[in-house]
Amino acid sequence: MERDENILELSSVSKVYGEGHTEIRAVDRVGFSVAMGEIVLIMGPSGSGKTTLLSIAGGLMTPSAGEVNVSGQTLTSLSRRALSRLRLRKIGFVFQAFNLLGGLSAQENVALVMNLAGRKDKSVDRDSRELLSRLGLGERLGHVPADLSGGEKQRVAVARALANDPPLILADEPTGNLDSRSGREVMLLMSDLARERRKAVVIVTHDNRIMSIADRILWLEDGRLSAGDVSAGDVG
Ligand SMILES: Nc1ncnc2c1ncn2[C@@H]1O[C@H](COP(=O)(O)OP(=O)(O)OP(=O)(O)O)[C@@H](O)[C@H]1O
Ligand SMILES: [Mg+2]
Repeated sequence: MERDENILELSSVSKVYGEGHTEIRAVDRVGFSVAMGEIVLIMGPSGSGKTTLLSIAGGLMTPSAGEVNVSGQTLTSLSRRALSRLRLRKIGFVFQAFNLLGGLSAQENVALVMNLAGRKDKSVDRDSRELLSRLGLGERLGHVPADLSGGEKQRVAVARALANDPPLILADEPTGNLDSRSGREVMLLMSDLARERRKAVVIVTHDNRIMSIADRILWLEDGRLSAGDVSAGDVG
């Protein structure tokens, strides 16, 4: 792959929860970079610090030490307001629990984040419809989340993450609540869209079946990146 600008850079990031005898070093001096257009998986046992690391990378949580750069901006140097602006424009999040708004239709969930980014014109209607159709939900635009299957909900969540065309997508166990078929379908759609639009994607997962979509896999154990940070090519 051609060398490109890094959209995400973490250097020597640590996170300590609690204090004294309850202290837990959930992330321990982790550093890595993700280039534009790259798909990176973070794998590791339960409790190894994956969610903590992803939350820090996305500016949802402040590290105890170390630095995070997104699109050339150091997150810790930003005001709360600047940080939420950066999150809205530069990062799309996909969570295991979907986090869709139950009172809004599929299309409204997607349109909402476009509105939040300052878009109020007619193109919001068109673009949200197009994005959902691209994810196979053209016939489900008006359905509220309760009337959608798990895989459909997760595809709405993927559409919402892509709504503002952010260069970086962060996903925490995006297929965790799905049966294997819909899980695979969601992952393939997400990676196809990401490749097509040259998004950088970081996915936390337990799911060995999606290793094949990755350019690179980072292994986390006890909060540390293990030395065997193999590329997907080595895995086969
Ligand atoms: N808010 C918190 N307060 C204290 N400890 C926490 C908190 N959140 C997580 N931890 C601890 O930090 C460690 C890492 O947790 P984290 O959620 O990042 O792991 P994970 O790799 O995402 O696990 P899983 O695969 O089960 O989701 C665990 O030991 C966990 O118990
Ligand atoms: Mg987790």
